[in-house]
Amino acid sequence: MITDIKTSFDGEIARCASVAELQDIKVKYLGKSGELTALLKSIKDLPAEERPTFGAKVNELRKQMEEVISDMTARLKTQQMQRQLQEERVDISLTSCPERGALHPITLIENEICDLMVAMGFEVLSGPEIETDYYNFQALNIPEDHPARDMQDTFYITDSILLRTQTSAMQARIMEKRRPPLKIVCPGKVFRSDSDASHSPVFHQIEGLVVDKHVTLCDLKGTLEYIASHLFGKQTKVRFRPSFFPFTEPSVEVDVTCSNCGGKGCSLCKGTGWIELLGAGMVHPNVLENCGIDSAKYSGYAFGIGMDRVAMIKYGIPDIRLFFENDQRFLKQFGK
Ligand code: DAH
Repeated sequence: MITDIKTSFDGEIARCASVAELQDIKVKYLGKSGELTALLKSIKDLPAEERPTFGAKVNELRKQMEEVISDMTARLKTQQMQRQLQEERVDISLTSCPERGALHPITLIENEICDLMVAMGFEVLSGPEIETDYYNFQALNIPEDHPARDMQDTFYITDSILLRTQTSAMQARIMEKRRPPLKIVCPGKVFRSDSDASHSPVFHQIEGLVVDKHVTLCDLKGTLEYIASHLFGKQTKVRFRPSFFPFTEPSVEVDVTCSNCGGKGCSLCKGTGWIELLGAGMVHPNVLENCGIDSAKYSGYAFGIGMDRVAMIKYGIPDIRLFFENDQRFLKQFGK
């Protein structure tokens, strides 16, 4: 009887291929109403003298079976795990790339100008977008009630705190803290209450400032010509027109030959052959003095470039609002 059970158990174990099947075998032989359990229960029907030997044999078999089942469980689990690892293996060498992003066109322009300026020995600095009236206007020779304030439609937060209307606000912040020689550029967001195809309430400027001994308008012109030819091509010409900014004297408005028609006249340059690009000038002595820099000893030039405008000209973008709508179809075009 015991031998029969062992033989059939061994046969089933040999054929068993899964943990689930093994569980069934366990129940069949060792479970509450299992075959071996039944055998154990039958001890009471035996003559008293046979009981110890029989009991010992059954228990021995029970131990063996339990060991076999436990070894087999471990082996099957390992096999199962290996099979699963094999089946669910992820091939990380597959080249199913997600779509690549692109830098925003304004970022491209900012990087391009900053790289160029750094190569010329300029340092790149950034400053606060929420600014005081002092740095945005007063330090720049624009006192309260000065009519030049009307040139820039300002978002005021309080009477003395505003969203900066120009990166020029950084000029005094830097000149107050540092001594010449200074050679810096400050890119960043600026804000004005204005909105149409060529004006946005938020746009981007990059301010340039050089202060040293013997800085002249020629230095300014040379630097701007270099920037323009880098941005729009070697053939680009630059022209200075007299202008007015309270923080520069003399002040100039700088035009470049139209990159679209090369100066012949087209719709982009409204037939003039020239495109207005930026404001610049020699730093006004009052601004230097406001920051404790001796204007008899030092001079400087400054310029402010509208980066949105550069991007619009360079990439042929007709409406400034496209920069801020985050339309993927527009932005995708700037991926390499
Ligand atoms: N801040 C001026 C503007 O936003 C641009 C400008 C003009 C900047 C002359 C300058 C400058 O640094 O010298 O219109």
